[in-house]
Amino acid sequence: MRRKIVAGNWKMNKDMKGSVELVKEIIQTNKLFGCEVYISPSFPFLNEISSICELTPIKVIAQNVSEKSQGAFTGEVSVDMLKSIGVDGIIVGHSERRKIYGENDEVLRMKLDNCSKNNLEVFFCIGETLELREKGKQNEVIENQLNNTLFDLPDFNLDKLVIAYEPVWAIGTGKNASSEQVQEMHQYIRTLLNLRYGKSSDSIPIVYGGSLKPDNSKNIFSCPDVDGGLVGGASLNPKAFLDIISSI
Ligand code: PGA
Repeated sequence: MRRKIVAGNWKMNKDMKGSVELVKEIIQTNKLFGCEVYISPSFPFLNEISSICELTPIKVIAQNVSEKSQGAFTGEVSVDMLKSIGVDGIIVGHSERRKIYGENDEVLRMKLDNCSKNNLEVFFCIGETLELREKGKQNEVIENQLNNTLFDLPDFNLDKLVIAYEPVWAIGTGKNASSEQVQEMHQYIRTLLNLRYGKSSDSIPIVYGGSLKPDNSKNIFSCPDVDGGLVGGASLNPKAFLDIISSI
């Protein structure tokens, strides 16, 4: 049985007060979640939010990490720093990091390796642009993204891996992929994982991200190869986020 997961990526939103209020509203519902729940606040608030979540089932992950271990890298944050404040995992390869900050496969491979060696959970994001989807190249894109990064590493701690399929054209656009499109891609990703890792890949969760909302999450989560979601915009609204969690 694969794990079920819903994660909220707050991106560069909310100040200290707003972040604390948001997490407290999620905690205070006192609901028993039917899946694992992760939230990803901004770097400056990770420490505070991790302490607030310490005795709750909610896990806290960072939105990014440096590919370097330590040293003269102004503005960067290392795996060790994040571990020392109780962060459980990292989102690696988000399309905003790839596109806006130019993170390429080589950098992503180093980040993945760094996280795996340090036993941190990784949400590894992959997904095609609209242009490549319109050319029918989505499978090729996904395969290349995996071959050039994750699959190129001789060892990866698969117990700590979550794949997030996030078609770039569906992120923050209000235009989610249809459940047929999502199922097709997740099934394809599962085939690739199986070819690379064999049986041990069977338990790797694959979550969907891209304009997930309470009114489309149930449909998408009901696809056989979808194990949950990575939620951006809707995770900033506690009610919407909790409704998405309940729909799994
Ligand atoms: P969105 O973002 O839900 O706002 O589309 C998803 C993501 O970027 O992970």
